[in-house]
Amino acid sequence: MGPIGLIDGRIVADLSEKLVEMEDRGYQFGDGVYEVTPVFNGRCFGLQRHMERLFRSLREMRITVGYSAEDLYGYHERLIQESGIVDAGIYLQITRGFAPRNHNFPDNAAPRLTMTVRPIPPSLLQYIETGAEAIVVPDLRWLRCDIKSLNLLGNVFAKEQAKEAGVFEAIQVRDGAVTEGSSTNFFAVKDGVLRTHPLSNLILQGVTRTIVVDELAPKLGLKVVEEPFGVDFATNADEAFVTGSLCNVTPITGLDGRPVGDGRIGPVTRQLVEAFTALVGQACPKG
Ligand code: PDD
Repeated sequence: MGPIGLIDGRIVADLSEKLVEMEDRGYQFGDGVYEVTPVFNGRCFGLQRHMERLFRSLREMRITVGYSAEDLYGYHERLIQESGIVDAGIYLQITRGFAPRNHNFPDNAAPRLTMTVRPIPPSLLQYIETGAEAIVVPDLRWLRCDIKSLNLLGNVFAKEQAKEAGVFEAIQVRDGAVTEGSSTNFFAVKDGVLRTHPLSNLILQGVTRTIVVDELAPKLGLKVVEEPFGVDFATNADEAFVTGSLCNVTPITGLDGRPVGDGRIGPVTRQLVEAFTALVGQACPKG
């Protein structure tokens, strides 16, 4: 079957069906939050972490919902079962609801939950094997990038610049420091040590990033330094990679038209790609 959706608990077979009010605050203000959870072999990967981050985003946005994490787990399951899609991305968004347009939070709006499930585009996953190129762009985003909010214009502009440059990802830089990709976290590898921007309001705490930093790197005996670094450090790194739910660990072999290291996937990145694939295989076994 093709992509399907869910709105406030009800399955929607036709994604072009018109179901959202004109004055939904998601439309008018980008006033809401979202998550993207990958599905491998028919099982969600990292769903608990994604739902924990969702509830954190909701708290930070002061949006109160009637759903529990268990309700949301159930909706993910239903979408997988009813769509029959086994390798997928499940998108979930919650807006503050609809109310006459006014910047202030409305008193009585009911948050609106919508979800979709669709196959992961194979074009995204191919780069895990081949490596991908990226460009460096200014980070135009607001100062609460730790909230996974629907306000993504900075990210959209960055990703579009990457497309126009014919590359996979745009790596953003704020005040001289490399923050993260437009929809990924960024890592540079120098002398066997992983470096990535520290957790702060300037980046999203990626679920894939957390798995690399807290689980895979210690297991592989790799040191991780979470400190800001500049573009020069990134372009002179031995290796680089990005992490994200729809691209796992993807090697970055070129930055701004110059090779990273020798321009091939390096040994540390390769180890992490393999360890991540193995972890997914354990969590979501085939059959
Ligand atoms: N993006 N940084 C940003 C700005 C992101 O948008 C994402 C995810 C990540 C990686 O987070 P995670 O490992 O939890 O997927 C980092 C999703 C996939 C998206 O917007 O489509």
